[in-house]
Amino acid sequence: MIIIKSESEIQLMRESGRVTAAILRDLRDLIRPGVSTKDIDDFVEGRILEKGMFPSFRGYNGYPANACVSVNEEVVHGIPSPTRLLSEGDIVSVDIGCTWKGYVSDAARTYAVGRVSELADRLIRTAEASFFAGLEHCRAGRRLYDISSAIQARAESEGFSVVQDYVGHGVGRLMHEDPQIPNFGKAGRGPRLAKGMVFAIEPMINTGGWEVEVLRDNWTAVTADGGLSAHYENTVVITDDEPELLTLL
Ligand code: MF3
Ligand code: CO
Repeated sequence: MIIIKSESEIQLMRESGRVTAAILRDLRDLIRPGVSTKDIDDFVEGRILEKGMFPSFRGYNGYPANACVSVNEEVVHGIPSPTRLLSEGDIVSVDIGCTWKGYVSDAARTYAVGRVSELADRLIRTAEASFFAGLEHCRAGRRLYDISSAIQARAESEGFSVVQDYVGHGVGRLMHEDPQIPNFGKAGRGPRLAKGMVFAIEPMINTGGWEVEVLRDNWTAVTADGGLSAHYENTVVITDDEPELLTLL
């Protein structure tokens, strides 16, 4: 069941989303060669707690950190480590969630560390562009897989593949609510979108094949073929008119 949020619930999600957005914006200045993935986690934790909010990922299904920090071939759910230092040419995806008065916002960006290859740069830009291609369908009356199909088409038009094992989702009092939002599918199908639905839409795209594997830590998902992966995510409200982005300033 897709839960419709009231205006007062959406207001709390806006407040949460603004904090998430500001942290992701400010990570641009922190991320450079020599910084550890744990430094990123510490920054995220500090910024959420100083607002009196809670890092939604901490303890979620036993997750041992505040942010997911995934480098290069890591797709999602990379666990921050003080010994994993970023190097020039890496790409790093940071996914964070913030809970405010019981309501969650969820968003991710992929950052270039120093100068990166032309391929890496194009992958990062395509992850973002595929999100915005999906966003064009985030309107009351459209069908859910219109979003999925548009994301897939945009990613594949650049020769990239779409991860299938992880999907976007409804978000609200829980981080993961119905519906699941695949980043691939057939337009014209799925539930109709309605005002007050709130979604975390999150394309994960790979330079090589779509297949992923999970490492022995039981969290970190990596591309099976070792290709690069990028992730871009925002929390989005369906309205009577244009969709509202809660996690982008
Ligand atoms: N933020 C992820 C998502 O977008 C989920 C993170 S799982 C956690 O769905 F365990 F790290 F919290
Ligand atoms: Co999410």
